[in-house]
Amino acid sequence: MTITPGSKAAGAAKNDFVAGMAEIAREAGALLMEYLHQHVKVEYKGEVDLVTVADRKSEALILQRIQARWPKHDVLGEEGASIETGSDYRWYVDPLDGTTNFAHGFPVFCVSLALEWKGQRIAGVVYDPTRNELFSAEQGSGAYLNGEPIHVSKIANLAECLVATGFPSHKRHKNPNIFFYHQITLRTHGIRRAGSAALDLASVASGRFDGFWEFNLNPWDTAAGVLLVEEAGGVVTDFSGGPFRLDSRETVASNGLVHKALLSEFAAIFEGRELEELPNPVEYAKTRGK
Ligand code: IPD
Ligand code: CA
Ligand code: CA
Repeated sequence: MTITPGSKAAGAAKNDFVAGMAEIAREAGALLMEYLHQHVKVEYKGEVDLVTVADRKSEALILQRIQARWPKHDVLGEEGASIETGSDYRWYVDPLDGTTNFAHGFPVFCVSLALEWKGQRIAGVVYDPTRNELFSAEQGSGAYLNGEPIHVSKIANLAECLVATGFPSHKRHKNPNIFFYHQITLRTHGIRRAGSAALDLASVASGRFDGFWEFNLNPWDTAAGVLLVEEAGGVVTDFSGGPFRLDSRETVASNGLVHKALLSEFAAIFEGRELEELPNPVEYAKTRGK
């Protein structure tokens, strides 16, 4: 029998995927927890792009489990897993999202797994082993946290939002995000920079954050989280409001209600309009203690 996503049979097949993905993510998450307090050695993939034995062992475990269950699927993993056979199915694996946090013992990290069928994201899970929180979604069937339905927030006014961002490690001297951070800090309840893009997206999906943006994320950072946000009723685009693509290097996610307001802030920042001046620390120092 041929199963196509969208058909009832496909629904059953997708359910099988999510259950299997959840099992794999939980197993990988448990492995990460075993390494968490062992002060693992840190290696550098770039100037501040870290990797540890935990990233590699987690990816190896995930790859092994995917291949055992779905031997014909293609896989792309952050730490080098790459199976390219031209399959209609393709996995995006981030075996440890939040490596810098993990390496410092700051417990904000997760496992992120997503599955595409013919270029459509059909299933995704993000598992936070520190809180035992498993976020899952399948195309057309909603988003869930530990099996309970989740929804994006209902806040419609940007000034009342809590939003999140991240700063890319690659070419960090060339990234203008500090201006976005400053500007949007002054126009919202605040910004969190927690250090795991997949969890940031899961937090938008579950209404904990009202929005999130980041430059230069990779497909393994975003694939599962974007599906979570969309299935929870939110919106994900590039910084101009165009369709989000895994290779677009721009990710902005929100509850939908504040999306336009966020995008118009971005447009203003890119055009240098209404930029709030960053307070000068030298001038500030002159006033200290007075
Ligand atoms: C990183 C995290 C971080 C984001 C970086 C990502 P990694 O992923 O998602 O929040 O700011 O851009 O590279 O390297 O920890 O898997
Ligand atoms: Ca990542
Ligand atoms: Ca990673």
